[in-house]
Amino acid sequence: MIENALVLDGISKRYGSVVAVDDVGLVVRQGARHAVIGPNGAGKSTLFALIAGTIRPSSGRVRLLGEDVTRLSDHQRARRGLAKTFQRSSVFGSMTLLQNVLLGAERRHGRPARVVGRHAKPAVEAAEAALERVGLLDRAHVRAGLLSHGERRQLEVALALAVEPQVLLFDEPTAGMSAAETARFVEVVGALPRDITVLIIEHDLDVVFTLADRVTVLHLGAVIADGPPDDIRASELVQQIYLGTPTGADLAHDDAEVSSR
Ligand SMILES: Nc1ncnc2c1ncn2[C@@H]1O[C@H](COP(=O)(O)OP(=O)(O)OP(=O)(O)O)[C@@H](O)[C@H]1O
Ligand SMILES: [Mg+2]
Repeated sequence: MIENALVLDGISKRYGSVVAVDDVGLVVRQGARHAVIGPNGAGKSTLFALIAGTIRPSSGRVRLLGEDVTRLSDHQRARRGLAKTFQRSSVFGSMTLLQNVLLGAERRHGRPARVVGRHAKPAVEAAEAALERVGLLDRAHVRAGLLSHGERRQLEVALALAVEPQVLLFDEPTAGMSAAETARFVEVVGALPRDITVLIIEHDLDVVFTLADRVTVLHLGAVIADGPPDDIRASELVQQIYLGTPTGADLAHDDAEVSSR
């Protein structure tokens, strides 16, 4: 068995004089619930895109499930078991939830998309199972356009799950969710089978410290801390960085709430 789901080795991304991601090394072990945190502009979304394969690094390598995928496209990485929550624009409001999940799964499997027509029974069952996992099965035949913001994000999770990924990436999944929706999301991710590795980029430290068994902290494009959640929470350097930035104050506040439990 491959020990590490993802390995980044000396990954950098430069935009002119801006170094968005600066020589990052990151190891995500198989079955981990790994979180990447960091203040605004730390390079989190850029790192996410480098892992997903939507952008290419200026230097460094990406290994997915033991294979060097540095030069592979996002679609090629998807076919090797990497899934990310879809952007909102990929949910079709005029289609039902079930149709959205079926279409997403078919596109990711590299089969021609069919908006209308018959779907194989196993595909329908897999799609229904994905909707059930996120708590949306009872709304399978509702149009996606009628969902609340949070429900729509849950649908995106179902879209990702429907391809039965080995590695699942989330970029700020709870952004814009209500407290109840966030709680539901935490429950959904917490209940995923351990053979799915989860990498989550998240602002809400409550979510991070509930879900993650490993935390990497980015600051100005570089890794400044990496370790078990308790060590990260206790790290003075991490606290300084959060306290030292405007949004950091909010994050540190969340952190304090977590710590006081
Ligand atoms: N396409 C781009 N062109 C130029 N600079 C970019 C580009 N993408 C990101 N950057 C810069 O790289 C840095 C890291 O940005 P990134 O969006 O990855 O940070 P982030 O940690 O996701 O921030 P946030 O918490 O605000 O989402 C920022 O200084 C940003 O302005
Ligand atoms: Mg971002």
